[in-house]
Amino acid sequence: MAIISNDEEKKPSRKNTNAVSKQTEYDRGFENNIRPKTFDEYIGQTHLKETLKITILAAKKREQPLDHLLFYGPPGLGKTTLASVIANEMKSNIKITSAPALERPRDIIGILMSLKDGDVLFIDEIHRLNKIAEEILYSAMEDFFIDMTTGKTQTSKSIRIPTAKFTLIGATTKAGALSGPLRDRFGIVHRLEFYTMEELEAVISRTAGILDVKITEDGAKTIALRSRGTPRIANRLVKRVRDYAIVKSDGVIDEKTAKSSLDLLKIDPLGLDTTDIALLRLIIEKYNGGPVGIETLSAALGEDIKTIEDVYEPFLIQAGLILRTPRGRKASAEAYRHLKYKLPSQQVGLFDE
Ligand SMILES: Nc1ncnc2c1ncn2[C@@H]1O[C@H](COP(=O)(O)OP(=O)(O)OP(=O)(O)O)[C@@H](O)[C@H]1O
Ligand SMILES: [Mg+2]
Repeated sequence: MAIISNDEEKKPSRKNTNAVSKQTEYDRGFENNIRPKTFDEYIGQTHLKETLKITILAAKKREQPLDHLLFYGPPGLGKTTLASVIANEMKSNIKITSAPALERPRDIIGILMSLKDGDVLFIDEIHRLNKIAEEILYSAMEDFFIDMTTGKTQTSKSIRIPTAKFTLIGATTKAGALSGPLRDRFGIVHRLEFYTMEELEAVISRTAGILDVKITEDGAKTIALRSRGTPRIANRLVKRVRDYAIVKSDGVIDEKTAKSSLDLLKIDPLGLDTTDIALLRLIIEKYNGGPVGIETLSAALGEDIKTIEDVYEPFLIQAGLILRTPRGRKASAEAYRHLKYKLPSQQVGLFDE
């Protein structure tokens, strides 16, 4: 499987040779090593994987390209990884790009024209496609051709250029920001779910194996608990705990080493990041635990509504820290406990526990 990427945004700048860019290069190498390449290596998302296996087999039998697929869900759950696993399982080439890299019409036309039959085109952050690029994509997705206008106004002619029969895989963290017509052109639309503790433990043990570091079951459990249901975070934590284990103990990650290293790194015991915590504190301190409207939270935090809804809230809701009510968001009793606030006594009755 050849992987060709024109994703300028994610390439390190050639001019930038400071420590930060070196770190990025190192991280990229680490990412490539641990990224699953087959369905067997791809942990969790069981239902989605089973559905995809059947769709892939059917497409192979029909000798037709796979239907266009859209994956959405919070960052780090494995959308990009899954796209390359699919291409690998289809024995197809994949071209990886992202919407911000497709600014001019010729960017999207160029990439569409370069595709061969059966290729996979992966467009990350697909909700950020501009209108023109989106319209060019419509006919390519539906009927495999591009409508192009040549010449100046009076003599202009519209010509249709066929494209190869490709599969588009789109990924987004903000499904709500995708236009209806674009969304409708995907044959398969799937939301990626947060990983269970067992699945995260499996991700952590696999990564530790690739890094050649010993880890106990309890060590993996301790890291899983602070991984926010997200394999990307789990992997990042394994790397940091591994460093700690090498310096401070015998290099083995057990419960004690994992705990002291994560505490030292000030990783929140539930894996919350600074925005999660700011959001909860805001509801608790300024709005007396809520309910408070999402618009108000968005203005106070300086994050757009869709980002709060699609990126931050899903985990906070799943962890039972935020409750969604018709009158707005409320902090749960668990959120008060976790952030060490005293429950306002007059509100105790309001919490659904
Ligand atoms: N199912 C999985 N099994 C094992 N590791 C996984 C799995 N899914 C993701 N990972 C790991 O987590 C990391 C993040 O995954 P990926 O980049 O695919 O997430 P994403 O959903 O595309 O995130 P973003 O929205 O930020 O683009 C990958 O480097 C990969 O190693
Ligand atoms: Mg991605």
